[in-house]
Amino acid sequence: MNKITTIAGQLNWVIEAGSAAYAFGVEPGGLLVPTYWGPRLPRREDYPSAARAGFAVFEDPVHNTPQEVPTGSSGDSNERTLDGHSADMNLRGFVLRYVSAEPHAGGVTVVLHDEVQGVEVRVRYEALEYHGLFARTISVRNFGERLVKLTRVFSGAFQLPDLGGFALTHIDGRWADEFGRVRRPVEFGTFSRESRRLTTSHRSMPFFALDREAPGYAASETSGEVWFGALQWSGNWKLITERTRPDRTVVHLGVNDHDFAWDLPPGEVFEAPRIVFGYTDAGFGAMSRAFHDYIRDDLAPRRDYIPPVLYNSWMATSFDVNEAQQVVLAEKAAGLGAELFVVDDGWFAGRNHDSAGLGDWYPDPTKFPRGLGSLASRVHGLGMKFGLWLEPEMVNPDSELYRSHPDWIIHFPGRERTLSRNQAIVNFAREDVQDHMLLTIDRLLTDTPIDFIKWDMNRNVSEPGWPGHERDQRELWVRYVRGVYRVWGELRRRHPDVIWENCSGGGGRVDLRMMALSDQTWISDNTNAASRLLIQDGYSLVFPASTMGAWVADDPFPADIAATGSENPVHYSLDFRFQVSMAGALGIAGDLAQWSEAECSAATQHIARYKSLRHVITRGDLYRLAPPTHGSISGFIYVAKDKSEAVLFVHRGFRERATDNETLRIDGLEPSAVYTIEGQDVAMSGRAWARIGYQPVLKNLEGAVLHVQRR
Ligand code: GLA
Repeated sequence: MNKITTIAGQLNWVIEAGSAAYAFGVEPGGLLVPTYWGPRLPRREDYPSAARAGFAVFEDPVHNTPQEVPTGSSGDSNERTLDGHSADMNLRGFVLRYVSAEPHAGGVTVVLHDEVQGVEVRVRYEALEYHGLFARTISVRNFGERLVKLTRVFSGAFQLPDLGGFALTHIDGRWADEFGRVRRPVEFGTFSRESRRLTTSHRSMPFFALDREAPGYAASETSGEVWFGALQWSGNWKLITERTRPDRTVVHLGVNDHDFAWDLPPGEVFEAPRIVFGYTDAGFGAMSRAFHDYIRDDLAPRRDYIPPVLYNSWMATSFDVNEAQQVVLAEKAAGLGAELFVVDDGWFAGRNHDSAGLGDWYPDPTKFPRGLGSLASRVHGLGMKFGLWLEPEMVNPDSELYRSHPDWIIHFPGRERTLSRNQAIVNFAREDVQDHMLLTIDRLLTDTPIDFIKWDMNRNVSEPGWPGHERDQRELWVRYVRGVYRVWGELRRRHPDVIWENCSGGGGRVDLRMMALSDQTWISDNTNAASRLLIQDGYSLVFPASTMGAWVADDPFPADIAATGSENPVHYSLDFRFQVSMAGALGIAGDLAQWSEAECSAATQHIARYKSLRHVITRGDLYRLAPPTHGSISGFIYVAKDKSEAVLFVHRGFRERATDNETLRIDGLEPSAVYTIEGQDVAMSGRAWARIGYQPVLKNLEGAVLHVQRR
């Protein structure tokens, strides 16, 4: 049971979720302070009470007392959650003291005031119905009589227990190489990861996991303590780890304060995005499973989403699309067993290359003289859903939209408008732009029977200006993202049957908030099977397989050529490519017109098999068994919630050295139940599979997808 408790006679609260607890309270000076983050304790009285830190020379207690909403203004020189000033600058910073607490289902909201600045901060805490997960949001209200300018509003500061050093696991990457998993010691001073790109970015994402650094205390996949969190936000963000003297580690996370400002006139409220955070003593695997359950069962727009097998024609036909040729591909895709046919970029007016067309969201009359309706009905006739690519936030200067509204793009007056991929960004912060896009896409979805939209976003921001905005133009960073949420959310509401795929040049905007708008994600433009294993492994730290779009593409892979100028000398069989892509939301992106009969028949078999296992792959619990970065064999398993069956994936990628196949310990099965692994004669208990393990027989560049069944 999740509980929030107020300890009698004191201003101390404990929230509990699963086997974890988070506690905080009001110390005698009225500051809201953290008191505990770790495993749930047996007795309420076990949790520490809020107290002020002791005295040290040059570190007065008020400097030294960690706070739930640090503002620095009592004299401590550490990182802050909140910063800002009165419009006349006479009053800079905030001093927040406890005013009241409002309990609600699953949590409590603590109200803090700065009476001099006239600002109220509400910190809302919630226990979530998932193992060890909590949520926290803050809002700032101006109850004074003057404008307050906010210059930083993070969503949380998380104080780690006083246990010495920690290591930070975070994500590092770039286009076509997203979701790299990095673990590094938290040094004294600060270390930050951030996005300044208007989107979450390919480089990293707003997520952290900390475990203890000291050898012998570090967490593994299956055991050890992990403190973690992620921000529900799809724009600029910042993560700071701060290690101060005396040895204390704090993690800060929120909307980026880089070039950020927000005008808060009297009576208005600024709401910061939510952070989901948690604790487990069962390692990184348990952390991931908590996130996966939370995303699938709580955040996701469709609770029981089972992704359809998709065919996307982008890699086959690029911009050169027309009805007859798409029909040929659709017939072939249907023959293989695809359930959804998607026409990617290239279908709309003037889109013969990447220099024109974006913004004019109606079918190109030369390519589709009969509109899209006849292709859609042909696709439906083949028993598949019909999908389309859109990039609503973008415009080419060579488009009707740009010619009629040149002021609608993000720009600074007088400065050159830097283009990227020949396109500019439509300013979704503007309400007139949002209304126009709503109308345009709503019409498209009403006029054509479209079942699926891939919403793409293919550039970084430049000249982030918003001329004409009556308030501080730096509000752009937040209002833009909220504008995207409004348009996308409203379209979802009006067209509840449409499935939405999130894409930003692959995984450029992947975060918890996007999980609430989209059903699945195109996680990378890199379809190289070996790269994909790494990218999928990193993605799985937070996001579930049900959302993980994974295409079987033709080898040589386009991303290798785009990134290095040459094709990768290592090639992967069609079987291997399926064995990688079947781990998520399976898609096909090869040029089917060129596939041999043997390839088509192999693909048909893989797709049928995927369909028979996908309920476990997309709804089961993931256990990572051996990472693709290490050893000869990598593997992971999806175990059905009732433990009656599982799907085991094993891969032997390219190895420079001759190595034997290692043994995989198969975690996640019911210890006392007996299981068989497809192709193996033995039956063993779940505990035996986890301890004695399984040694795959794989040659170089071979993989397998194996059904595991309880006897
Ligand atoms: C982005 C996407 C690709 C494809 C192209 C089309 O790069 O990630 O999958 O849709 O745009 O231009």
